[in-house]
Amino acid sequence: MAILPILKYPDPRLRNKAREVQTVNKKTQSLIDDMFETMIDAKGIGLAATQVDVHKRVIVMDLSEDRSDPRVFINPSIEVLDETTQPYDEGCLSIPGVYETVERPNHVMITATDRNGDIFNEEATGLLAVCIQHEIDHLDGKLFVDYLSNLKRQLIRKKMKKI
Ligand code: NI
Repeated sequence: MAILPILKYPDPRLRNKAREVQTVNKKTQSLIDDMFETMIDAKGIGLAATQVDVHKRVIVMDLSEDRSDPRVFINPSIEVLDETTQPYDEGCLSIPGVYETVERPNHVMITATDRNGDIFNEEATGLLAVCIQHEIDHLDGKLFVDYLSNLKRQLIRKKMKKI
């Protein structure tokens, strides 16, 4: 396993659109292991492959306090079950130290492939619903700051460039 470097905003590689995984193989599983190690090291709750400069549709997540609930979503998609949005203070390992409120639908159905190559469905509300949408955005080259005003985004960009 290895800790991978995380791309930081405004790195243009964060804008790449990730490709579908054709077959889940040893290479995919080793990427998943490295992503978990990287996410835990960075004290994050979710990580998309895009953030470690691998442009494949792979997401890892662990929303538990004690790191006991590792989740993998390969080629994930969502269907919105309820258009009602909820505000949530989002952060991102690619934009460290920045937390801003974003509104997203609070009830979605996730379809994805697991680390063994099996397709599964999972209904999501609350933090899981927010997190999966945030991470799928990464795979599409989108960041949570894209939902903010231009002015706010410029300020964050300036702050990040200084670091
Ligand atoms: Ni993020």
